[in-house]
Formats: sequence, C-alpha cells, structure tokens
Amino acid sequence: MTPFYLSKPYEPPQAPQNLPLNEPWALFGGISPDSFMKQYWHKKPLLIRGAIPAFALATQNGECLDSPISADELVKLASKDNIESRLIKAKPWSFDAGPFSKKAIPSLGKSNWTLLLQGMEAHHQAAAKILSWFRFIPDARLDDLMISLAGIGGGVGPHFDSYDVFLIQMSGRRQWQISKQKDLSLSPNLPLKILQRFKAEHEWVLEPGDMLYLPPHIAHYGIALDPGCQTWSVGFRSPSFKELLQEGLWRLAESLEEIPELERKFSDPLQKATANAEQLPEELVKQLTLKLHELKLNQIDRFLPGITAYLSEPKQQALFDGPIKPLNPSRFNKQLGSKKLLPSPQTRILSLGNEVFCNGENMSKDQAKDITQAWRTLSSQKGLLSQKIQATAQSSLYVAYLAGWLVFET
Ligand code: SIN
Ligand code: CO
Repeated sequence: MTPFYLSKPYEPPQAPQNLPLNEPWALFGGISPDSFMKQYWHKKPLLIRGAIPAFALATQNGECLDSPISADELVKLASKDNIESRLIKAKPWSFDAGPFSKKAIPSLGKSNWTLLLQGMEAHHQAAAKILSWFRFIPDARLDDLMISLAGIGGGVGPHFDSYDVFLIQMSGRRQWQISKQKDLSLSPNLPLKILQRFKAEHEWVLEPGDMLYLPPHIAHYGIALDPGCQTWSVGFRSPSFKELLQEGLWRLAESLEEIPELERKFSDPLQKATANAEQLPEELVKQLTLKLHELKLNQIDRFLPGITAYLSEPKQQALFDGPIKPLNPSRFNKQLGSKKLLPSPQTRILSLGNEVFCNGENMSKDQAKDITQAWRTLSSQKGLLSQKIQATAQSSLYVAYLAGWLVFET
C-alpha cells in the first residue's frame, strides 16, 4: 500500500481545441462523444470505470493520485462570500448555506456531513480544465462544476435532479445507488428535497477516476465511504420555455427603444362613427398588425438575440475586478500580439451566428470588423492571440478588458 504522504494531486489536462467527436474516448469507456450523445445523453445512465485512466495508471506505478484540490483548500473556499456553498448533515437531516468559517465545517474524521461548493470552475484551474472536456455539449447548456467534500456516510440523501449530470469520483470512494422509479414524491417537512420512497435498482462503489452519468429524473443516492470523499459534478441547465420566452420578450421590448419611428402616434383619420364605442377600434388592430409584420415581431429571429444575451449572463455570484493598472488601448493592442486574452473564469460567452454575446451584452453591435472577429475567436476558442487588433477606447473588446470580463493570461 502506498503511504498517504506520497499521494499527489491529479493535474487534469485542458481539452484540445478541436475535440475528436467520432473517436473513442476513455472518458466514456471507449465510445465517442457522437455515440454517447446518441445512446445515452438525456436517455439513460452510464457508469464508466476508469473514465480518467491516470488514477489507475498511477496505482499500477505504485503511486497514489488524489483530487487536484485538497480538502483544506475546499474548506478555505467555503469561507468566501462569492462562492455558493452548502453544508448538509445526515442523521438527522440539516441544511445550512455558506459562507462557513473553518470551525463550522466538521473535521474529515467525523461522519454524516457533506460540503457542497458550486461554480468551482471560476475558482480553480483544474475545475475549469475538467469542464473543457465537455465542450462537445453546447456552452449554453452547461451550468457549472460542483464539488462535494464529505466525511464517511455523508451525502445529500436519495433525490432526483431535473438536469443531466456527470459525477466524477475524485477522492475516496462513494457508493451510488440509482433507480428509474416513477414515484418521485418527496418527504414532507425536511429541509432538503429527499425522496419519500427510494428503491435502489443498481448499486456501485465508485473509485477515484470512475464516472457516473445520469440523465434528468433518475433517482440517486450517493454515500461517502471514505473520509474526505470528493465527487465533482459537471451539471447542465435547461431553462423552461416560460423563462426563455419571458427573457426573450422583455429584451425584444427593450430593443424597440432603438427604433425612433415607433414614437409616431397612432392616428385614425379613417375612423367612422361607431355604434360600439366600447370595442377596441378596428383601425388600431389593423395598423398594429401591420406594424408587427413590418418589425417581424412574430418571427423567431427577432427573439433569438435576447435569448442568447440572457443565456450568456454570468452567475449571480460572479464578481469581476478590472485590471489594477489598465493598459491604454495602444498597449492593449500590442499586448494582444504576445499574450493570450482569456475570458475571466466567471465570464460567459455565447454566439448566435456571427454575433457574440458576453455576460448578457451583444459585443458585436456597432463594432469594427477586427473586433467582431476577435469576439468570434474568443467565443469558439475561449482565448485570443492576435497582432491585427486595433481596438479603440470604445471597442467592446477593450471595454470588456477594463471591466475584468477578459483578462490576459499570466
Ligand atoms: C454529491 O456529490 O454528494 C451530490 C451530487 C448529486 O447527487 O447530484
Ligand atoms: Co443529484
């Protein structure tokens, strides 16, 4: 047995820019992302032993790999107020929301507790690198990487999620039980959403490097078997149609501000004397119908920019710090030739055709060609190195740099 002090943190690699979508991946047990999406995504669970082969390889070489982030580091992160954290205890169930002082978190030797930390990709390079492996799924679907740290017996209870999740075992072992049960009723009077009647259909013990994929609504129950058990969950989001339409519609309504012609008042020189004065005038309906048609307000293309802007909004907790000593535009342009400009870890960038949206704003609007091209590169490659950019003080690229949305690689 390898002595504990020899364990070293696993260093996940950044995924290559062009992911090989139809080649076998160890991450999916030897099937390609193409096949994974066809056979499993949103359809059925998949257990992958040795999804991260580095863990088993290290053991074969008499070494011991551990999570890229130590338990101590996670406990420290839980004290930050810009990180969403939760502490869940079992027997009896209790729930607290962070931030937590070190003292508030049980020691690793204690049982029946788990600490959950959301959005870890913004706070640790290793978490961001693991997320890069999943960029064969649209960025708009990705939510975040959550890390759970637990003492023996720790877990969040039997439950179901409404989203797809990849559960990667990173330290210690965790037992997972899952069920396709239809009965998803929850126990009343508990501070957590725990299934009233959970009947396990499959059970596995996951070792570091193993991964379990679960589509939405599969009942599951994970119990930590070792002190300091860490599970990294890559989670996805799928907004409701209500949310998408409401967000799209109000942004569309706001965009009407930019059409001066709409200030013109409704006029009705053709209005006839009417016996039904209480009715909305037909003439108004006629002119409004024409306007809606003219402005293409009944067409999907008019909604999509607002929806893309919405989906590119950062998480509520996101904080951006601009550079302490900002470069002026000409130095900024020069630096772009030698240093990579990256989205800050909490920045979200999404594209709609050639338009690019960053943290809720349209970055391509009224911009010079080189700037829109730069945003397209940032959106697809999550990085930009170029000698050709001539940003001015007003360019959206430079403004985003000043806001701390984009940062130079250090
Ligand atoms: C955990 O890591 O303990 C919980 C993850 C989940 O069940 O979604
Ligand atoms: Co879950």
